[in-house]
Formats: sequence, structure tokens, C-alpha cells
Amino acid sequence: MNRKSPIRPVIRELEPSGISKVTALGLGNPDVLPLWFGETDLVTPPFIRQAAIQALEDGRTFYTNARGIQPLREAIRDFHKRTVGADIALERITVPGGAMLAVVTALQMCCEGGDNVVIVSPIWPNIFQATRVVGAEPRLVRLEEDWNAGRWRLDLNRLFDACDTRTKAMFLASPGNPTGWMLTADEQKQILDFCRARGIAILADEVYGTLIYDGAAHAPSFLSIADEEDAVFAINSFSKPWAMTGWRIGWLTHPKSVEGAAAAMAQCNNTGSTHFAQYGALAALSPEGDAFRALLLDRCRQGRDVVQAWIKQQNRVRWFQPDGAFYGFLHVDGLKDSLGFCQRMVKDDKVGVSPGWAFSLGDGRDDSYLRICFAQDPARLAQALERLEGAIRKL
Ligand SMILES: Cc1ncc(COP(=O)(O)O)c(C=O)c1O
Repeated sequence: MNRKSPIRPVIRELEPSGISKVTALGLGNPDVLPLWFGETDLVTPPFIRQAAIQALEDGRTFYTNARGIQPLREAIRDFHKRTVGADIALERITVPGGAMLAVVTALQMCCEGGDNVVIVSPIWPNIFQATRVVGAEPRLVRLEEDWNAGRWRLDLNRLFDACDTRTKAMFLASPGNPTGWMLTADEQKQILDFCRARGIAILADEVYGTLIYDGAAHAPSFLSIADEEDAVFAINSFSKPWAMTGWRIGWLTHPKSVEGAAAAMAQCNNTGSTHFAQYGALAALSPEGDAFRALLLDRCRQGRDVVQAWIKQQNRVRWFQPDGAFYGFLHVDGLKDSLGFCQRMVKDDKVGVSPGWAFSLGDGRDDSYLRICFAQDPARLAQALERLEGAIRKL
């Protein structure tokens, strides 16, 4: 029987991301050394866990204000002040659930069917999937490799030329996943000027903002230069700097005038984030939390050094040492089918790596790349790299 389906075609066409196509083959298998997800192997620190346990003991098991509990939103305001020097009104801060939900909320606010979102790539695949879910077209503008200068480069002219009258938003993750590339303050200023003039929203993904290696407290932030009515949606997360990926808690900073809409959307998307988890997040924003961030950053720096030392001994692997975040995006000479390669590695070599293929729209431009997360125990990381080296040798 030929059944009529109420499911939107765009939803029918969605497929698991290229990362899931690899993890599906070995997630939970203790023999596989996992470098595929964007998370450290450290468990959330005890003082954060304890705060959530205490909240449970205190009976904090009810609905909260869907935009987040007041003390948490106040602590987020203080965090922005001390890290990027921005004075953000409380009305601009909403805690909808994980940062991924913050991305979806911002996209829902700006886009409808037929619109497009210009996205700087390579990029975490959930971003272009979420763009499709809201009915918009993801348009990727790829960073360019500058092997002479040893860095990724964003061509602002290409970025601006990709926008047309149906462009509602620009998505920029800085520091980026998977590249670790960072926007400069001057580039941010030019992008803000362009988007202001064209009525385009900036979705500024700053979830790795404090995980940077130049000694500064934070990467350049759109929040430092935007005014309270600029269409800047800054996305932030507790997941990465405080090792809280499983807690599903992050926040969105939005224009002041959409406060009411942000509340309505928090209600209909998730009816707020988990009550007791918000107390864990509140503890993360304490001085103890700052000390943990420093410790994690140090571990990431060690991981980065391990990868750098390993690369020096390889003749087919190159990278641009990342300025921020905790990924190595490795270029492997001769690699053409990164997805098949990563799938084989799970089975044969017992190492979990994400395929470059996943970070563009399957156009093959990132197919010579592999992404690894180096926020790991240095000895285990070195062991995983040994396995990767063995697999590359067989290529
Ligand atoms: C660039 C980027 N944005 C957002 C997220 C989502 O973070 P969360 O775990 O809070 O949903 C991730 C997670 O990997 C990410 O890499």
C-alpha cells in the first residue's frame, strides 16, 4: 500500500551523523580507545557532583523557571563580566538545557522554511543537521588551509558573498570544532558590521571560549562588542570546560527584547533544564570551578603536546596546531575515504576516531582528515595514537 506520510520530507531525509556511523560500531566496547567524542575522560569534579546531590537531598526535584534559576543566571552574568568584560543584562540570559538546545532555539528564533544559514566549516555535524531540522538550508563557507603560514584562514569576502536575501543567520564556532581555529577581534568587528547592515543574526558558538592556549582568559567574544539589541545569539556550555557533557546544561545569551520569546521557547522546547543539574552548574561557576578549568586546560595542553610530538614522527600526517578547543584535525596524505577508514579502525585497530567526512556536507573536501579529541590521559592518548599510526601504515 502506498501510504501518505505526515512526516516532513526534510526529516525523512535526515541520517545519523558521520560520527555516529563510526561510534555505532564500538560505543561502550572497553577494547576500543575512544577519541571520537568531544569530551575529556575526566569525570565531573566532586564539588560539582556534590552540589547536585545536595540539591536532590534538599528536594529540588520540581519545575523551575523555564529560563533557569535566578542564582545561576546571575552567576552566568558574572562569568561573562570576568571573562570577556561584558555587562550582560539578566534578561538576556536563558538556560534552556544543553548548548545544543541553545543552538536549536536560536535557529528556531531566526529561520523558517526557505531561509538559509551561512556556516563556517569544517563544523560539528549537529549544526548543519539542526539547520535542516528548522527547514533552512545550511550553506558552508569553508576555512582555507594556509600550509605556509601554518593556519586555517577565513576569507571574509567569501563569507559575505555567500549571503543573500534569504540568509537569516551566520553560524561561527570560535574556537572551532574540529579545527581549533579562532576568529580575531577585528574579524568579529567586520562580521558584526556586515550582519548589522544586512539584518543577519550571528550565532556565536563560544562553548570552547575559555579553552584556549595563548594564556588569555577567553577567546575574542561577540558579547564584548555587541549591544543589547544586536541580533547576536551567543551559545555557551558547561559541558566542555567543567567536564559536564552528560549533564545537558548550557546557556544562550540573546537580545534583550526577545526575553519573552526566549521564555516561551524554553517552555515549549524543554520546559527548562534539569532542576538539580542547575545547582551543579552554579557550583561550576565558583572559584573552585575556575581552578578546575585551569586544571583541565593544563591536561588539554599536555594532550596537544603529545599529538604534536607524535606528528613530528609521522611522514603522512600534518595539522595546524589548534589555538583553542581540544581537537586535533589531522590531515593524512593519501586518505580518501575517511568514513570507511574510521569504521575499519574501530573493528580492526580498536581505536575510535571521527572521520573528516562528517564535518562538511559530504562534498569530500574534508575526507583526508580525521578528528581526535586529545583531552585525555596522556598515556592512553599515546597508546591510541600508536594504534592510529598502525592503521595509517596499512592505508
Ligand atoms: C561547537 C559546539 N557547539 C555546541 C556543542 C554542544 O554542547 P552541549 O554538550 O552543551 O550540548 C558542542 C559539543 O560538542 C560543540 O562542539
